[in-house]
Amino acid sequence: MRDLIVAGNWKMNGSQQFVGEMLLALNKASFSEPVNAVVFPPSVYLHEAIQQAKAVKVGAQNLFYEKSGAFTGELSASMISDVGCEYVILGHSERRAIFGEDDLLVAKKVVAALENHITPILCVGETLEDRDGGKYADVIATQVKVGLSLLSTEQTSNVVIAYEPVWAIGTGQTASPLQAQEVHELIRNLVAELAGIEVSHNMSILYGGSVNAANAQELFSQPDIDGGLVGGASLKVDEFLAICSAAA
Ligand code: G3H
Repeated sequence: MRDLIVAGNWKMNGSQQFVGEMLLALNKASFSEPVNAVVFPPSVYLHEAIQQAKAVKVGAQNLFYEKSGAFTGELSASMISDVGCEYVILGHSERRAIFGEDDLLVAKKVVAALENHITPILCVGETLEDRDGGKYADVIATQVKVGLSLLSTEQTSNVVIAYEPVWAIGTGQTASPLQAQEVHELIRNLVAELAGIEVSHNMSILYGGSVNAANAQELFSQPDIDGGLVGGASLKVDEFLAICSAAA
């Protein structure tokens, strides 16, 4: 059975007080056994979040692939592993669009994460222009192929992929369950071609883009959707918990 994961990406939101209050509330909650709930605070709060987290895991929103050196402002995979991160989000569309990350850079980051025993959540997804132009399948296939291109089969088996259509992120315009399922199936088939049926069958593929308490269950009930990468709704504890319950 595939891991069910609900990942809460806090993006550039929060404060020390917010981290304390969220972790306190999440520590009191009960999570259904099969669901892995993971929160992704801004990096400056990772250490304290990890110190406080009991019921959820904690991950980083990014890393840089070099081991150490003159890379001002960056964090290495070994640093985020050192403070206790188990997951890292890589290739998020905001990193791609605002910070110019391309597929090969993302691929190098995926390698660095795996070499440090951190599970990478490799984000892929098309823009509205790609979708309207009928190019979405090609765009996503390229992101997946290049993103996994530096990995052995065994390494690929430790990757999580998140499908996040850019037009659905923060817009309230969720992909329909069928639209999302179509792309998840496409990704799973592609992974089967690249790394074999077993790896593909066992890979968790998350959906992200305006997931909320009202739409999570229908999305997560699709056969190839194994949980979600949640932005805005992960900042509200009750809504995040409801989304976690929907994945169970
Ligand atoms: O990483 C999370 C995604 O970008 C989704 O964000 O749930 O606010 O649309 P959203």
